[in-house]
Amino acid sequence: MRICKITNLTFLIFIALLFRFSIFGTCARDGKHWRQGRAASLSVFEVKENGHGGEGHTDDTKAFEAACKGESSTVMVPSGCVLLVGAISFSGPTCQANIIFQIDGKIMAATSSGAWKSDLLQWIKFTQLKGITISGKGTIDGQGSFWWNTSPTYDPTARDSTSISDNSEISTGPRSKNSGTKPTALRFYGSTDVTVTGITIQNSPQTHLKFDDCTNVQVSNFAASSPSDGPNTDGIHLQNSRGVVIYSTTLACGDDCVSVQTGCSNIYIHNVNCGPGHGISIGGLGKDNTKACVSNITVRDVKIQNTLTGVRIKTWQGGSGSVQQVMFANIQVSEVETPIMIDQYYCDKSKCNNQTSAVAVSDINYINIQGTYTVQSVYLACSNSLPCTSVSLSNIQLKSVQENHHLEEPFCWEAYGQLKTATVPPISCLQTGKPSKAGTLSDIDSC
Ligand SMILES: *[C@@H]1O[C@H](CO)[C@@H](O)[C@H](O)[C@H]1NC(C)=O
Ligand SMILES: *[C@@H]1O[C@H](CO)[C@@H](O)[C@H](O)[C@H]1NC(C)=O
Repeated sequence: MRICKITNLTFLIFIALLFRFSIFGTCARDGKHWRQGRAASLSVFEVKENGHGGEGHTDDTKAFEAACKGESSTVMVPSGCVLLVGAISFSGPTCQANIIFQIDGKIMAATSSGAWKSDLLQWIKFTQLKGITISGKGTIDGQGSFWWNTSPTYDPTARDSTSISDNSEISTGPRSKNSGTKPTALRFYGSTDVTVTGITIQNSPQTHLKFDDCTNVQVSNFAASSPSDGPNTDGIHLQNSRGVVIYSTTLACGDDCVSVQTGCSNIYIHNVNCGPGHGISIGGLGKDNTKACVSNITVRDVKIQNTLTGVRIKTWQGGSGSVQQVMFANIQVSEVETPIMIDQYYCDKSKCNNQTSAVAVSDINYINIQGTYTVQSVYLACSNSLPCTSVSLSNIQLKSVQENHHLEEPFCWEAYGQLKTATVPPISCLQTGKPSKAGTLSDIDSC
C-alpha cells in the first residue's frame, strides 16, 4: 500500500501557482465554492506520496488534522494517494472558514487500536465550521467489516497504539467491546454552509454521512456504498438540520438510505438512487417520550430497489410533537418489501407498550408511486389516540413481484385522508374526512 504524507507547500510559490491553476480549472464547474480559494494568499496543503511504502507509519492522523489549522484554504488528497487516518476532528475555532477538502485519492480508517480513543461516535468529525466543502472523486473507506463482525475479544480503546502494518492486528480489527457504539464515518456538527460533492464513502462502521445541527447543507453526486448486511449503516442521517438539499446521489447500505430525524425542516431530496437498504425514512421519532418536530420534507424523483421499505414514517409510542408537510413524489420502486409505510408503533424489541401520547402525523402526500413490492404495498398504522390526518394518495400503482402470488392487502389503522385517484391495488381502508376523536387537536404539541 502506498502511504501519503501531508506536506506544507506554502513556501513553494511555483507549486502553489500550479495548484492555483488546477484549482481554477475546476472553477467553471462550481464557481460558488471555489471562488473562496481566490484569496490573495492562496496556500495549499498537499497530501503527497512520500515513497516510504508505509514502513514505520502509525498513521497520518496528526498531519491531516494539522492541515486545516494553517493558513491554507485548501487541503488536497491527490488521486493515487492512500491516507490512513484514525479518529480525527476538525473544529471551527482552529480551522479556516470556507475551507475546502479536495479528495481525489483515498482516505482509509486506521484499524490499529491506538487510532481510536474513547469517543467512538465518529471517525472524521467537523464541528462549528462556517463554510466547508468536501469535494473530489476520491473515496473514504471506513473499513466497516472490522466493526460489523462484533466480537467481545477486542476493544480498540483498551490498548496502546501499535503500527498499522501490524498484520495480526489488522486481521483482528477494531471491534467495539461494548458492541453498541460504532463510529459514523463523516459527521458534521453545528456547521453552516456545508457542501459534500463527488466523493464516495464506503463500508462505514455505522452511518456514512451525518449532519447534526447544521444549516444550509448541499450533498450532490455523492455515493454511500456498503453491503446490505452492515448493521446500522445509514447512508445519510439528518438531525436538527435545516435547509438540506440532497441530489444526484446513490445510496447502497445496510440501513436507511436517508434517515430524517427530529428537528429537521426544509429538506429536499431528489434524483436519488436507493438500495439495497431500508429505504428513505423519517424517524424513528419520539423515542423515550421525547418531543420530535419534523416539517417540510420533499422526496421526489427517486428510485428505490431491493429495500425493506420504500418511503416510511416511523414513530415510537409515547412521543410528542409532529411530522407535517411531507411529500413523496415520483418514486419508482422495484422489489421493495413495503413501498409505503407509516408505523406509529415502531419498536426495537418484541413488544413496546402502547401509550396515549404520540407524535402527530399530518399532511402527508404520496404522488405517483409505482413499481413492484414483495410483501405489502401500503401499510399505514397510525396512533390509537392521535390518528394520522390529511394523508393523500394519488396515482399509486404497485404490483406484486410474483403475479399470481397472493400478498397482503393494503392495511390502514386510524389513517384519515383522501385518495385523489384510483389506486392499484385499491386502498379501501383509508378513512375519509377528519377523525371525530375528542381532544385530538389539543393533544398535539405545537412545534
Ligand atoms: C420548504 O422547503 C423548501 C426547501 O426544500 C423551501 O424552499 C421552502 O421555502 C420551504 N417552505 C416553507 C413553507 O418553509
Ligand atoms: C397497541 O395498539 C395496536 C392498535 O390498537 C394493537 O394492534 C396492538 O396490539 C397494541 N399493542 C400492545 C402492546 O398493546
